[in-house]
Amino acid sequence: MDLTVAITGASGTIYAEKTLKLLATSDQVGTINLIMSSVVPTVAQVELGVNLRDPGPESISEWLGLGEGSKKIRFWRLDNFAARPSSGSYRQSGMIIVPCSMGTVGAIASGAGTNLIHRAADVTLKEGRKLVLVPREAPFSDIHLENLLRLSRAGATIVPAAPGFYHRPDSIDELVEHLCFRILDQFGIDHSKHTQWTGKEVPQDEDV
Ligand SMILES: Cc1cc2nc3c(=O)[nH]c(=O)nc-3n(C[C@H](O)[C@H](O)[C@H](O)COP(=O)(O)O)c2cc1C
Repeated sequence: MDLTVAITGASGTIYAEKTLKLLATSDQVGTINLIMSSVVPTVAQVELGVNLRDPGPESISEWLGLGEGSKKIRFWRLDNFAARPSSGSYRQSGMIIVPCSMGTVGAIASGAGTNLIHRAADVTLKEGRKLVLVPREAPFSDIHLENLLRLSRAGATIVPAAPGFYHRPDSIDELVEHLCFRILDQFGIDHSKHTQWTGKEVPQDEDV
């Protein structure tokens, strides 16, 4: 399947990094159309110490360290409204915005988008394709919650950047991965299922 992944300026660039690595190494995924908002280089520098000042195929490949896997990733500039993901006639399985800022949530919810991320999300919804948003803010205001509800009612799936702990993560990597697995689950993309709840940790009722 082909997908679009957008990264915005909310905290949690590490979720985007992990999601891209998982998608790029999945046999089920073909082209990954990648779009980044203008704030991503700042957040990536602050949170990961990564230099994405001039985002493009080379800096992205170096950041993700994917080697051959990078070839699946097609980078689109934010102001390129002629990019593939801006048209509904480009058939793809859906779009993931990870992490998703409240600014981007508001722009999509209002339908008054101004960049390629907003346009691609708008197109994904109008075509009835899967749009997965991974919002990050704390606390949420009424405006944030109303915008998220509006998007959910319009067909988007909200997977908040709120990782679980029931798999007892030993590291930040495991914590992050757990959330990214939930994103992949939305598209039926296989992963190492060790975060899938089986209930064996607590007594279960008898099978009938
Ligand atoms: C280090 C850093 C962390 C940020 N964290 C968040 C956040 O968690 N959630 C959020 O909605 N905005 C956050 N922001 C603010 C957004 O980047 C800002 O609202 C921006 O306009 C969003 O634009 P975009 O959606 O086009 O990326 C953060 C900004 C910086 C620099």
